[in-house]
Amino acid sequence: LPDSNIEDKGMTMDVMQREWAHSPEFKEFLGSLNSSAFLKGSLASVDVLYRKYGDDYVRLAETMLASMRKMGVDPTKVFEAYIYQYIRDLVSFQKTGEYNNGTFDEIKDKIYDNEELMSETYLPGLFVAYGFTSLLHEKYRFFERAFLSRLRPGMNGTEVGFGDGFYLWNILNSFPDISVSGFDISEHALKFSKRLFEVSNISSARYQLRLGNLNDKLPVTDGAYDWCILTEVIEHVADPVLSLKELNRIMKPGATFFMTTVMDSNHMDHITNFESSDEVAKLLGSAGFVVQDQMEHALSAEVQTNDKSVGLAFVSTRV
Ligand SMILES: C[S@@+](CC[C@H](N)C(=O)[O-])C[C@H]1O[C@@H](n2cnc3c(N)ncnc32)[C@H](O)[C@@H]1O
Repeated sequence: LPDSNIEDKGMTMDVMQREWAHSPEFKEFLGSLNSSAFLKGSLASVDVLYRKYGDDYVRLAETMLASMRKMGVDPTKVFEAYIYQYIRDLVSFQKTGEYNNGTFDEIKDKIYDNEELMSETYLPGLFVAYGFTSLLHEKYRFFERAFLSRLRPGMNGTEVGFGDGFYLWNILNSFPDISVSGFDISEHALKFSKRLFEVSNISSARYQLRLGNLNDKLPVTDGAYDWCILTEVIEHVADPVLSLKELNRIMKPGATFFMTTVMDSNHMDHITNFESSDEVAKLLGSAGFVVQDQMEHALSAEVQTNDKSVGLAFVSTRV
């Protein structure tokens, strides 16, 4: 992600001081980052994450990389493709100040329906980026402390636009008693996440993944869910308020909603660039949600970079 724009400050990195003999995938991945001029900047973020989250971070990163291997994915190759696409889109945004990625229908045609792009770079690259870019990883950490603690066995929940399946995979791994459902507009997301759960030995009885478009009505009755997740999707939809109202419809009163987005951070399928976290909080309010907790993470706060991306995450309840 943007982290590859980070300037090499020539600092000694804690994460490079250990052998990592018991984390072979992590060790190999660090070696690949270190030996690639293009990816070396990402090491600064990995070092920050290691210093903050310690061995727990390395355990998660190792499991993520090992899962990609089991799926036949080369983590370095997909991360490189992801970073390349990110930098290309960021540079274009820095020139114009606009996303300029086309209409939702054009994006669907070009990206979500494109098997090669989704299966070979977009989805596996995003999954790996959750482990190795601070912008995404910090949102996951907020999810862990502010959202996961609210889940209970027997609750019925869904993720809309689950894509690479990273969040559902986390819930399924953390709560053996919970079953989940998910919707995505891309059939390639369904295939990818199903395969991820299979290689992670998660029984297919525990999840139901379906096609669904958040620009329209989802095939679900009113008030069906106790929790709902929408991560890195609201900036992609045609009409954010309409989509949030649709999520409100399918949730029970009092249900918990986890949502993330990003500002000033172009991707090939971003449509809306929100101006502030207040703007997003107001959107949530206008769709019938009350914000309970929120976080904001500017990439430039921890590493030296000219990338102004700011990650936002919210835990809300449905009125
Ligand atoms: C950037 S990915 C995020 C994936 C996942 N939530 C995560 O955080 O890793 C965006 C996902 O949203 C899906 N998506 C975009 N527009 C959608 C819509 N209108 N309805 C349902 N899914 C949509 C895309 O197919 C893609 O899988």
